[in-house]
Amino acid sequence: MKHLIDIERLQTDEIYDIFKQAENFLKYNKDHTQVSYTQNTLLQNKTIYNLFYEPSTRTRVSFELAARNLGANVINLDVASSSVKKGESLKDTILTLKALQADAIIVRHSENDTADFIREVCNDKPSVINAGNGVTSHPTQALLDVFTILQNKPDITKIQVSIIGDILHSRVAKSLIAILRKLGCNKINIIAPDDLLPEETDEYYNNITVCSDLKSGLKNTDVICCLRLQKERMKHSLILDEQKFFETYGITENTIKFAKPDAIVMHPGPIIRNVEISSEVADSEQSVILNQVTNGVAIRMAVLAKCLMEN
Ligand code: NCD
Repeated sequence: MKHLIDIERLQTDEIYDIFKQAENFLKYNKDHTQVSYTQNTLLQNKTIYNLFYEPSTRTRVSFELAARNLGANVINLDVASSSVKKGESLKDTILTLKALQADAIIVRHSENDTADFIREVCNDKPSVINAGNGVTSHPTQALLDVFTILQNKPDITKIQVSIIGDILHSRVAKSLIAILRKLGCNKINIIAPDDLLPEETDEYYNNITVCSDLKSGLKNTDVICCLRLQKERMKHSLILDEQKFFETYGITENTIKFAKPDAIVMHPGPIIRNVEISSEVADSEQSVILNQVTNGVAIRMAVLAKCLMEN
């Protein structure tokens, strides 16, 4: 595995390999008394570029921390003040980083196929890691989401996962559905109003239950995945009343009762309190939102180690 472009191209055993590695890294990150010299220096001579064309806090920082924890050099390209602003094409930016002997490029971009495009420009080296592309793929988020689910619900084949809200614009939802299917979760529910559903083929919805009513959709749910309303990606014609959305689809102390009593609540962040989730639920015992953030670093360490040590 040299690149991580999307979930679809990952093998199941590669996914479990990443989880196993992440488990070790998680222990190491939590308990620095057990600092292992090998882990600390695993990527010591590698240079990793963070190339984020869209805003990000946790994903960018998480990749940076992951790379630093493994001893790599990390360079955050500030796209807003880079040659991109002078009109340099993505291809020329990538060729420049390749000539600078980059070992990995981590890319976030508004276009769906950017990571693939960069991989074609780069050939084998540098490694390309997708940190969220367009509305279709966010593979490291999907990995950390399932890693977090497994910490709480160890048998993925027996659980029901409900994904709520803005599926249409959510690369998080698309990659999560892809990985859940791959690992044998066959109870996936989408709960959303019609205009937030993707116009996909029947194949996409195969085995997925689509429901516009929160109460019936949450019935028997073990894992509740909230999503942000991604207004920056919405067409102007799609006018959404946030207050109305919260009343109909918000996860609150009242609506969480429609799911199983031990259901966990997830959210990729950033969370918008009182739009998709109430403060009480976000800060409750059932919320694993901050565990997702912590796990994200370990997952990204495992992904970087796997891509770069095999390169
Ligand atoms: C998500 C993204 O950028 O796709 N955030 C993230 O990576 N943690 C979801 C979002 O922005 O709502």
